[in-house]
Amino acid sequence: MDIQDYVARREQELSQATGNIRDFKVFDFNYIPEKPLMRDEVKPIADALLRYEKTGIANNLLVFGSRGSGKTLTVKYLTRLLGQNGLHSIYINCRSHNTSFKILAECLGVKPRGCSLSELWQRFCQEHGQRTVLVLDEVDLLSDKDKHKDILYLISRSPENYMAILLSNNPKLLNLLDESVRSTLQPEVVHFHNYTAPQIVDILKERAAVGLSRHDDVMLQQIAAMTARNTSSDVRVAIKTLYYMAIEPIQDLQANFERARRDILGDVIQDLNDRTLLILRAAVDDRDQHARSVYETYCAVSGQAHEEPFSYVHFYSTLSYLQSLGLILLISTKVGKTYTNRIQPLFDQGLFEAVWQARFG
Ligand SMILES: Nc1ncnc2c1ncn2[C@@H]1O[C@H](COP(=O)(O)OP(=O)(O)OP(=O)(O)O)[C@@H](O)[C@H]1O
Ligand SMILES: [Mg+2]
Repeated sequence: MDIQDYVARREQELSQATGNIRDFKVFDFNYIPEKPLMRDEVKPIADALLRYEKTGIANNLLVFGSRGSGKTLTVKYLTRLLGQNGLHSIYINCRSHNTSFKILAECLGVKPRGCSLSELWQRFCQEHGQRTVLVLDEVDLLSDKDKHKDILYLISRSPENYMAILLSNNPKLLNLLDESVRSTLQPEVVHFHNYTAPQIVDILKERAAVGLSRHDDVMLQQIAAMTARNTSSDVRVAIKTLYYMAIEPIQDLQANFERARRDILGDVIQDLNDRTLLILRAAVDDRDQHARSVYETYCAVSGQAHEEPFSYVHFYSTLSYLQSLGLILLISTKVGKTYTNRIQPLFDQGLFEAVWQARFG
């Protein structure tokens, strides 16, 4: 086959396949389905928002769970639904606005320069005289430079009784906050459990019904089973696999699944901050792979990169965070008479090395 034949054949295959796609938007991770799958985790958030709407007494929430467990979708869906009753809410992603200052500037639609934090806060209070829910998504990405996370303190002390909803991958987030913030915020903690395979099937069915002209239920079950088994049930991997199966049906399912998983993990590694990337470097390099020895390797690697290493406690909580991102697995193992965690990397090393090279050369 020459190049022309190959291109012609592939073009025909692709146009046949895209003919099966009715609506591409269902494959966009920001798509909000008309009826997201209901689960118990939705209830405490809906109840807290309703209580706030009725009483004006803030019930702050900290929602945590693994990647792709539906936190963002659920909170966006509920705030939009209650917005129809007149409940005002603001959504900010801390990945793009990673300091208290930038968050307030974004809320006010101004450039984050030229005013002090307290001026911005005053303006925020003037503009939001009514009940307001502030959703801070990916709150664990607030910069280390924003040491005291002032925005959380301001919100929790506000005379207007604003309500905060914090979304995080990190189960230990509360431990990382100042005592003063923790004691005024006092959030109700809601844990989003990983989806089960049958729940993932239901989510995929809804996507397929809207987005595809035809689909095969058995394939959806296989995608869901693979996602539950090989990732921390990250629904994004399942949706992307469905997408690849739709546009590349001749590829086998396993290959499309691996490709989807690789894409998603690549994004996750790319998004890590430098200090967290150093921990992954140590997890890859350390021969022993036990938490203590990985910590020692991490301290050495940090020294070489001229970064101050985390304390062991902080290092350890970052390991849980990396586990919730689906990048490592912590396996409890007995060494001598005590138990320790062995760290098993779950990502492709080539993928990691590419990000590492670009960052630390
Ligand atoms: N209950 C659900 N019904 C329908 N689709 C869902 C549901 N939960 C998650 N999804 C879909 O799965 C994908 C991942 O969900 P979402 O972005 O809410 O995860 P997340 O928990 O916020 O992940 P992260 O921690 O990475 O931010 C999205 O495309 C979302 O639409
Ligand atoms: Mg999210």
